[in-house]
Amino acid sequence: MSRRLLVTSALPYANGSIHFGHLVEYIQTDIWVRFQKMQGHEVHYVCADDTHGTAIMLRAEKEGITPEELIARVWQEHTRDFDGFLIGFDNYYSTHSDETRELSEDIYRGLRTRDLIDVRSVEQFYDPVKEMFLPDRFIKGECPKCGAPDQYGDSCEVCGATYAPTDLRNPYSVVSGAAPVRKSSDHYFFRLSHEDCRAFLHDWTQSNDHLQEEARNKIREWFEQGLNDWDISRDAPYFGFGIPDAPGKYFYVWLDAPIGYLGSFRNLTRRTGVDFDAFARPGGDTEMVHFIGKDILYFHALFWPAMLHFAGYRAPTRVFAHGFLTVNGEKMSKSRGTFITAGSFLDLGLNPEWLRYYYAAKLGPTMEDIDLNLDDFVARVNSDLVGKYVNIASRAAGFVTKRFDGALGTGPEADAVRNLRARSATIARHYDQREYAKALREIMLGADEVNQFVDQEKPWELARQPDSADRLHWVCSQTLEAFRLLSIFLKPVLPRVAARVEAFLAVPPLDWSHAQRALPAGHRIHPYEHLMARIDGKQVEALVAANRESLRATPDSHSTQRHAQHQENIVTENIAATGSPADATPPVPDEPAIAPIAPTITIDDFMKVDLRIARVVDAQHVEGAEKLIRLVLDIGAGTRQVFAGIKAHYDPETLKGRHVVMVANLQPRKMRFGESQGMVLAASADGAGVFLLDADDGVTPGMRVK
Ligand code: 2FM
Ligand code: ZN
Repeated sequence: MSRRLLVTSALPYANGSIHFGHLVEYIQTDIWVRFQKMQGHEVHYVCADDTHGTAIMLRAEKEGITPEELIARVWQEHTRDFDGFLIGFDNYYSTHSDETRELSEDIYRGLRTRDLIDVRSVEQFYDPVKEMFLPDRFIKGECPKCGAPDQYGDSCEVCGATYAPTDLRNPYSVVSGAAPVRKSSDHYFFRLSHEDCRAFLHDWTQSNDHLQEEARNKIREWFEQGLNDWDISRDAPYFGFGIPDAPGKYFYVWLDAPIGYLGSFRNLTRRTGVDFDAFARPGGDTEMVHFIGKDILYFHALFWPAMLHFAGYRAPTRVFAHGFLTVNGEKMSKSRGTFITAGSFLDLGLNPEWLRYYYAAKLGPTMEDIDLNLDDFVARVNSDLVGKYVNIASRAAGFVTKRFDGALGTGPEADAVRNLRARSATIARHYDQREYAKALREIMLGADEVNQFVDQEKPWELARQPDSADRLHWVCSQTLEAFRLLSIFLKPVLPRVAARVEAFLAVPPLDWSHAQRALPAGHRIHPYEHLMARIDGKQVEALVAANRESLRATPDSHSTQRHAQHQENIVTENIAATGSPADATPPVPDEPAIAPIAPTITIDDFMKVDLRIARVVDAQHVEGAEKLIRLVLDIGAGTRQVFAGIKAHYDPETLKGRHVVMVANLQPRKMRFGESQGMVLAASADGAGVFLLDADDGVTPGMRVK
């Protein structure tokens, strides 16, 4: 039965670049969309830039341009990146559009008619210089618990305490530096706690497979904590849509962001004549499917279905959440060069299908995180795509062109080909269920079998035997038929290669149904041209180098921006924050000189050194000292002052809040500037810099290191 699908990926913010973390989602969605299209289903894949909010407004101001100019520029950049990675949106739009405005107003009015909008006075911090209310992430001050300076308005990065911005001591506005004042204003709330909403959401989230099992469980926890009404308004100045009949009030960015899905779709339908209501209103047999990251589940599984339903629109059919990306087993990091932008990859001329393939080989239907291991990436792509898949065509095509004038031969189907064709349904099921890793495993097993067939038949030997021409023709034709089947199965992942294969085999665009029937004898192919090059490890090294930022990276570089906006947008809703700012480990040199290994010691010798985890509470330059930074370290049992010779390598600001390893039982040393009460551990090599040791998330001060 033919399906009618409206499919979306989350809208990226219009103030940052597309990076490898984003691409997990766009590639995952794009593969699913291409697969469904190959099944002959009607699919509309839409997305847009998420353009509103305080962060974008302030960013534009800082650049001395209008928000409209900023979002137009970023739209160009995003579009280029998505094209580069072959993300086949049917429409890539902007939330700053008439369509999204009209739909936002309509949905809001629908909710108001249902008596689901409430107006209440809310007291917030206000910047008297900038004359604006301050989102939590735009206020800093001293932590009410540990006194650490420069902490954000929602949580302390030094002691981990969470609190309300009004609890901060000596708060200041990040925007102007002024001391904020408390001020009240009217806010508009979506009454999510209303019994009708609660009942609807309980039913929607727990039934009909709208959500993955893990997501359903998560939501159940949220339900148990109770649903709060949702503050959907922000006061001027704000870059967004004005709320109807509410002068000076704007829709909060997260209200209009998901509506941007429908805005983009409406824009598409106006151009194509597709029936908007058939997909956007309840009752039909169409499906609306959202691919998102697990960090924005709350918005998509609670606010969004409720907004839609009570305003007379259809709720989503499915919300598919994926996990986060780690690189080499760790959080993406600018200083390590693993916070990789889409643009840098394309600029270096790397092949986007390498990454598409690697991600697909890692992706499943769950919310589990996926890891991009850069060595494995090189090995996997070279062995699977070049060694197994592309190789099959190059092993057979030359003979067909040279010996048989490009025409395919006749003969019975080889077992390897029959077996491969028989995998079609299983592979299709895996794709449909977002089990891409399983689909690719199945495809590569088929490719292995085909390669064994070629190994056994040895066409290069047949070619030398004058009476084996028929056999050679049959072997090569079967091999090319197998290659065609593999190309069909890989097309959702490798659309560009597939297009080249279509040209090479002289066939119309490959569809899934084409796997049923072999190409007829006598069909003529074109000469083979190489389809894909191997990755050289050096290319990946260059990529990492291009993305490695020095320690003194400006604090408003884009990951931090995205984080800030994410925080602004999420923390206000009292949902656990998931991102974290880029870390501050220094760049890794390419080849440090290796010092000789010291003489052996016993374990007892080693245990004499009492190594502890310490948290940097404060870090300052030391007046008159050329090399020193003064660290105040929390070691669980009180604080220690340590002078560390790392001034040339670290900006004290980046050290605050991080964990280090210290020798806690080193004899204190009197220095000109005060007593140094221990030593922090760092790696170093001649001329290669100094690198403080880090500890995995979860450590607490005072833990012993051994
Ligand atoms: O988290 C983000 O990057 C948001 N810009 C996603 C918005 S998705 C949708 F709701 F628009
Ligand atoms: Zn604190």
